[in-house]
Amino acid sequence: MPDPNRDYLTLLLDQYWFAPPVALWRAVELRTLAAETFPRPLLDLGCGDGLIAQVLFAGESPDVVGCDPWWAQLRQAPQCGRYAHLQQAWGGALPYPNAQFAGVFSNSVLEHIPDLAPVLREAARVLRPGGRFIVTVPSDAFRRLLAGYRRRAAVGDFAGAEAYATAVDRRLEHHRYPSPAEWTTMLHAVGLRLTRARYYVPAETMELWDRANGDYGVYEDGRPFYRWLASPRLRRWGYQLLLRHWIVRTLGKRWRCAYELDVPADGVGGGLLVVAVKEG
Ligand SMILES: C[S@@+](CC[C@H](N)C(=O)[O-])C[C@H]1O[C@@H](n2cnc3c(N)ncnc32)[C@H](O)[C@@H]1O
Repeated sequence: MPDPNRDYLTLLLDQYWFAPPVALWRAVELRTLAAETFPRPLLDLGCGDGLIAQVLFAGESPDVVGCDPWWAQLRQAPQCGRYAHLQQAWGGALPYPNAQFAGVFSNSVLEHIPDLAPVLREAARVLRPGGRFIVTVPSDAFRRLLAGYRRRAAVGDFAGAEAYATAVDRRLEHHRYPSPAEWTTMLHAVGLRLTRARYYVPAETMELWDRANGDYGVYEDGRPFYRWLASPRLRRWGYQLLLRHWIVRTLGKRWRCAYELDVPADGVGGGLLVVAVKEG
């Protein structure tokens, strides 16, 4: 079982010290996911390098099945020690029999896939009746909660706000932001029933995160000094271990409130946890 009380912020800052805003987003995501149960057998659809499974399922036996189309990521996944089996596969053509899994987990994947319908169909096909589909994606509020969007919209520059959000979509390769109601419809079409849609990354944290993406050079047109400092090309200079410790110590304190903040009841956040059950 994942542990909701673990300090995911410190763990993730240590892993993603070279891109701290990525650590902040993913730490909030893990804190949200840690409240869920992940039934076995479990498929991690779009597992990437396995870092999320490594942290979320820490201390558990290596019983997860993982798949990802991207070889470079997939090759790193065995090292995380959480997978019983890994396979190169696209979400729209899963190489597993019908009803193989009690759970399908997909973290920060579906927003990057241009044609989503075949992937949802496949996730539903490989799930057993009663099985759970657990997904995290950016939410329908993501664009309008960006600091750059809000700043422009506040002075009536709606065209500028839209252009800003579109540039973020392009940089992060996001294809869509369905609302909970739209998720309900899309999931229903493949025989899945939405049981929970929970927003995470509240407005204040979104504001900080969007600014930090610029400051730390995650958006390439931001000030790229930190990106340069953290570049693998400069590893041989030997200072990056100190930089990493400094990031973990400093941002572990400075970003603590943003990490721990919950989305208010009836409020929205930039991330959305979607949980659905396969109809029997
Ligand atoms: C942002 S990464 C997330 C990786 C991992 N789930 C995590 O949380 O660290 C997005 C992943 O989606 C994978 N992906 C992209 N298109 C896909 C598709 N059509 N089917 C399955 N995975 C896909 C990519 O290869 C990449 O590893």
